[in-house]
Amino acid sequence: MSVDDGIGLLQIAKNNYRMLGLRETGIGILLYLMRDVFPARDGFDKRYGVETDGVVTPDAAGITDDRLRSAAILYAPIRENALNTVLGDTLAKRDPSQLTFVDLGSGKGRGLLIASRYPFARIIGVELSNSLAQIARENVRRYLAQAKPVAPIRCRQLDIQCTSATTFDYPDSDLLVYMYRPFTGDVFIAALDNLERFQRTTGRQVMIMLCCPNEEPLLAQHAAFRKSGSFHVIDREYSWVMYEGVATRDTATPPQDDAVDLNHAPADSLAEDRGSS
Ligand SMILES: C[S@@+](CC[C@H](N)C(=O)[O-])C[C@H]1O[C@@H](n2cnc3c(N)ncnc32)[C@H](O)[C@@H]1O
Repeated sequence: MSVDDGIGLLQIAKNNYRMLGLRETGIGILLYLMRDVFPARDGFDKRYGVETDGVVTPDAAGITDDRLRSAAILYAPIRENALNTVLGDTLAKRDPSQLTFVDLGSGKGRGLLIASRYPFARIIGVELSNSLAQIARENVRRYLAQAKPVAPIRCRQLDIQCTSATTFDYPDSDLLVYMYRPFTGDVFIAALDNLERFQRTTGRQVMIMLCCPNEEPLLAQHAAFRKSGSFHVIDREYSWVMYEGVATRDTATPPQDDAVDLNHAPADSLAEDRGSS
């Protein structure tokens, strides 16, 4: 799926057609020009009996921290096909059961619900706004309760943490981190620094999927990440870039589990370690 950045218009049109189909590709350009007037609605809520539509400003979402609020971008949900296409391609080469999917800025939870079609080990939403996190929990509850699921549900370990992506404590697992324009500038860099710290202390793999890549220059400049792919469509809102973490494990500070505390180890285990009886 990887497409070089020097791709031509034909490839962009093909990607758009593959992601959204002929009819939508045709009218996509018109809607793009009018997108501030008509926010995208793709029938997701009606199809799955949830409430993820709408636009919510950081003020209306009740984000109180000044620095985080000024860097936060509006809540608006991802389009189903936009995430599903790129997830399908990304996971064709990876085993999802070895990965934790993390949506940084999960809003009302649509990205989490879409991710549940894949057999991830776990799915976690990280959302700063308490009111949006509450709505997402209710959406997850309703979605998992479908008697006859409209789409297959292959992961039921869905969890929403109400905290900032800049300080979130990741679980010890390889990660697929998804972002759909959650925050800008310094806060975006701080969220990347947090991921780098995680990779340095655990040695785990980190993959990032960034949709609507306005912040890509910050990712490209960050020494701990390297570009691994991209997928461009006509509407930049649904174009993607993929990066991998390249930070190596910091051996000077081994994680707690691996560390042997010689002061408190039982005498026989120390003897075994030294190879004597
Ligand atoms: C465009 S919405 C994301 C939509 C969602 N990921 C989806 O797939 O439908 C961006 C979200 O990021 C949240 N956000 C902003 N700053 C944040 C931060 N520092 N930490 C976590 N979430 C944040 C916003 O409250 C908003 O809900």
